[in-house]
Amino acid sequence: MAKSAKMMIDKSFQISKVDDRIYSSFIEHLGRAVYDGIYQPGHPLSNEDGFRKDVIELVKELNVPMVRYPGGNFVSNFYWEDSVGPVEQRPHRLELAWRSLEKNEVGLHEFSKWAKAAGSDVMMALNLGTRGISDACNLLEYCNHPGGTKYSDLRISHGQKEPYGFKTWCLGNEMDGPWQIGHKTMDEYGRLAEETAKAMKLIDPSIEFVVCGSSNQEMPTFPQWENRVLTHTYDYVDYLSLHTYYGNRSGNTGDFLAKSNDMDDFIHTVIATCDYVKAKKRSRKNMYLSFDEWNVWYHSNATEDDYRENHPWEVAPPILEDIYNFEDALLVGLMLIVLLRNSDRVKVACLAQLVNVIAPIMTDRNGGPSWKQTIFYPFMHASKYGRGTALLPVIDSPVHATKDHGEVTDVEAIAVHNEEKGEVTIFAVNRNLEEDVVLTTDIRSFEGYQLAEHIVLENDDLKAENSAEKQKVAPVSVDRTTMDGGILTSMLHKASWNVIRLVRR
Ligand code: AHR
Repeated sequence: MAKSAKMMIDKSFQISKVDDRIYSSFIEHLGRAVYDGIYQPGHPLSNEDGFRKDVIELVKELNVPMVRYPGGNFVSNFYWEDSVGPVEQRPHRLELAWRSLEKNEVGLHEFSKWAKAAGSDVMMALNLGTRGISDACNLLEYCNHPGGTKYSDLRISHGQKEPYGFKTWCLGNEMDGPWQIGHKTMDEYGRLAEETAKAMKLIDPSIEFVVCGSSNQEMPTFPQWENRVLTHTYDYVDYLSLHTYYGNRSGNTGDFLAKSNDMDDFIHTVIATCDYVKAKKRSRKNMYLSFDEWNVWYHSNATEDDYRENHPWEVAPPILEDIYNFEDALLVGLMLIVLLRNSDRVKVACLAQLVNVIAPIMTDRNGGPSWKQTIFYPFMHASKYGRGTALLPVIDSPVHATKDHGEVTDVEAIAVHNEEKGEVTIFAVNRNLEEDVVLTTDIRSFEGYQLAEHIVLENDDLKAENSAEKQKVAPVSVDRTTMDGGILTSMLHKASWNVIRLVRR
């Protein structure tokens, strides 16, 4: 007999309006993300600018509101001036973060055009590794100032009359990490970020800043880094960044699927640290969070090391090309539930990354088609149906034992109400690998709503992967939910991602 879980959702018990930007993503000049990914001149499916139209269509399917660019580790030695002006005059550079050759064929203008075609805004990252205040100011002047000054006129001379008006700016990337080019101590970085933000606000007071938090919660300086950096920058910045990547390195799927609990703990510790600094500063302002790198990443780690050690300098080496399996998609679904559950503080989140590099979208190396990885689907569902107001889920779930995480709940779930569209969507994962769970959900406050659909992502093989040839892991609609007198009864199969949709009659 299946286990049972209970959930109650009520339209007036709200966590927050979900900021659409939690469905953002990330494209770095890394591996085949840009070259051979979004950009492949000569490919039969590319447009006149060399951008793959099929990839743009897949990005649109994911409905990505904002894309972080151009890095990542890449940004910490990036000279933005190299990436503008006539393409044939742009310099070729040694790209040190990923040991590649960067020819600057795609730069600021080309990427902005691509982002517009894909329906996304650009979240611009600054080099605070090898550069500093004046270069950041010059870049902002180039991008956002209307004209009549050195850098805004340079932009105009490059063919872009209207300013780009980029709103969200990242003050560097993972500056706590010893691997970062121009890595800094917390006080060195805190002061630089403070002064850079202060100066940039003088150019364009409408912009927002994301200041670097720790690269992950295992960093030895976490959470003291957050405390010191915010102590310097609190008044100037709007968001603190978090990054996390998980992998099933031990081969224990129970523990792997429990890692979303670690992500939740991470968020809560960061919120506590932000609120501590707020109190210390007697500030009335809340610090919001930008979870601007999150995903599963571990399948490709060995190839990445091999490329860095044994290969010549190369344009777009095929690195960080994780091929995701079904259990990875379950964890991505669980991580999305965590982001939604914390949507009162997490206002930006970027699935890292978007194309070819630890990505939901892949393109074949030799001019072949593009295709969807397993993780494409939970992200697509959340981005499509998870807009509106996140509701506080009161859940009574059975538990199962894991090796490293102790007892964890079988069912993790969240509901989002889109009042405007008249839709309520429940996202639920049964992370019990052995047993099905019957979930009964009290939805009596949603009078006039009816069951529309129960979609699942499931597979008997936790290691099942997709490829250009075969979509082994793809969503299907099932007949496993009934509704009676304001109570939904849903059968959640073991190891499954579930999307249960209600619509107003
Ligand atoms: O997303 C891949 C890399 O992961 C990014 O460049 C870096 O910021 C992080 O360590």
